[in-house]
Amino acid sequence: MGTLEGKIAVVTGSARGIGKAIATRLAREGAALMISDINGDGLAALCAELEAAGSPGAVHHAADLSAEDGAQALLAATVATHGRCDILVNNAGGGVIRPFLEHTAETLRQTIDRNLWTTIWCTRAFLPAMIARQAGRIINIGADSVHTGTYSHAGYNAAKGGVHAMITGLAFEFARHGVTFNAVSPGGVLTEDLQEMMSDNPEVLAKYKMSVHPREVARLEIPAQRFTEMHEVAALVAFLAGDDAQAINGQIHSINGAQWMM
Ligand SMILES: NC(=O)c1ccc[n+]([C@@H]2O[C@H](COP(=O)([O-])OP(=O)(O)OC[C@H]3O[C@@H](n4cnc5c(N)ncnc54)[C@H](O)[C@@H]3O)[C@@H](O)[C@H]2O)c1
Repeated sequence: MGTLEGKIAVVTGSARGIGKAIATRLAREGAALMISDINGDGLAALCAELEAAGSPGAVHHAADLSAEDGAQALLAATVATHGRCDILVNNAGGGVIRPFLEHTAETLRQTIDRNLWTTIWCTRAFLPAMIARQAGRIINIGADSVHTGTYSHAGYNAAKGGVHAMITGLAFEFARHGVTFNAVSPGGVLTEDLQEMMSDNPEVLAKYKMSVHPREVARLEIPAQRFTEMHEVAALVAFLAGDDAQAINGQIHSINGAQWMM
């Protein structure tokens, strides 16, 4: 029996990448899922994939979660299909990564919208019912670049710093209601995009506007000499979502191969 049997989990930004890995792991632990993304492509396929792997009960809802009405529509769809949400994983995000002065007003706005506003609106949508039930888990996916600084990440770090900082204030305000708030803060994760960036093709390097090759980042800056795997991030999220983590509240959990410590 999985550790999340009988729980309802919502995972945002789960059409691909780390969100998909998190959804897959939570389903394997027995949670019934609502998966959501602004890009609806892939959500239905993931539900079918989960069902084929023996985890039925996943449903999906496409929405722009950086808007309050998108987050409220996700809440309504979750309540209509599953009745409630026990675990909210605010994973939607992703960077527009580029040197700070090369950003435009639009790319800066996108960066804050994707990472910070999605997290704020979804938390505001799902938290009241958790408080009413005196139980719940909210897990934000932050980023360890907030600590390391790293190349071309200043705009992204402005958004993810907010994603981390919300956690402490929310825990202070609402821990007495039985809800826990934690951030999982990955360093570089070997997603499909990072796999592509590992290429030596100059066109790929130019597309991602990389000033340093990721292979060099791993070699010089990560003591473990490798990027974190998506399933390793998902495993930490699954632990924080489970009953054994009830006393862990208001924390930022780095997962980064010792790239940043403390
Ligand atoms: N990949 C890494 O190395 C890394 C490192 C640290 C943190 N993170 C964070 O982990 C999370 C997942 O990263 P990933 O690499 O899988 O990213 P990704 O870009 O592959 O996936 C992010 C998903 O979020 C969705 N999304 C974006 N804006 C949205 C919106 N307004 N409404 C709904 N969905 C929206 C996207 O459509 C996409 O499917 C992100 O929050 C990212 O910032 C990633």
